[in-house]
Amino acid sequence: GLLTPAVAQEVFRHTVTGEDLKIMESSQPGGRDTEAVRSFLNTGVNPYTEVKEHLPKGEETFLSACSGCHGHFGEGKIGPGLNDSYWTYPKNKTDKGLFETIYGGAQGMMGPHHDLELDEILTVMAWVRHLYTGPIEEADWLDDEQKRAFTQFAQKHKDDDTACSGQTFERA
Ligand code: HEM
Ligand code: CA
Repeated sequence: GLLTPAVAQEVFRHTVTGEDLKIMESSQPGGRDTEAVRSFLNTGVNPYTEVKEHLPKGEETFLSACSGCHGHFGEGKIGPGLNDSYWTYPKNKTDKGLFETIYGGAQGMMGPHHDLELDEILTVMAWVRHLYTGPIEEADWLDDEQKRAFTQFAQKHKDDDTACSGQTFERA
C-alpha cells in the first residue's frame, strides 16, 4: 500500500563478487519511499523506463556522475559504451542487473554509487536505456509495447559539449 515503507523483497547482489548488497542497510535514507522504488524493490522492473517526465533528471545525474567515464551519450570513454547491445556483464540487460552494477559497482574504476538515492539510480537507469542505439530486438529490458514505441536516440549537439543538458531527451 501507499504508506508502507520500501522493503526489498529481492536480494540484490554485487555484479562481480555476488555478495549481498544489503540495499536497505546501505542506501541513502532519502529517495527510498517513492512509488517507483517500492515497486522496483519488489519486482526488479524499473517503472521509469521511457517515462518522459523522469528522463531530464536521469540525464542530469548521468552527466554529473557517469559521463566523465562513459561519455556524454554513453558511447564509451575510459569506461565501456553503455548505448549498444554488448554488455560485459549480460545481466545488465535486465533492470535488476543494471541496478546492481550501478549501486554496487563492478571492477576497477567502476566503484559503487550508493551515494546516489535509490530513486536517482532508477532515473539514471532510465536515461541509460534511453541512450540505446543498438538493434531494438536485442533490447531485452523493454517490453513489447516499449519496443514498439522506442525511437532511436538522436545525438543532438554532438559537437557541442556545453549544450546537451535538457535538450537531448527530444527525439529526432
Ligand atoms: C562499467 C554504469 C560511473 C567506469 C559499467 C557498467 C555499467 C556502468 C552499466 C557495466 C557495463 C557492461 O556490463 O558492459 C555506470 C553508471 C555510472 C557509472 C550509470 C554513473 C552513475 C562510472 C564512473 C567511472 C566508471 C564515474 C570512472 C571513474 C567504469 C569502468 C567499467 C564500468 C572502468 C568497467 C568495469 C568492469 O568491466 O568491471 N558502468 N557507470 N563508471 N564503468 Fe561505469
Ligand atoms: Ca556496451
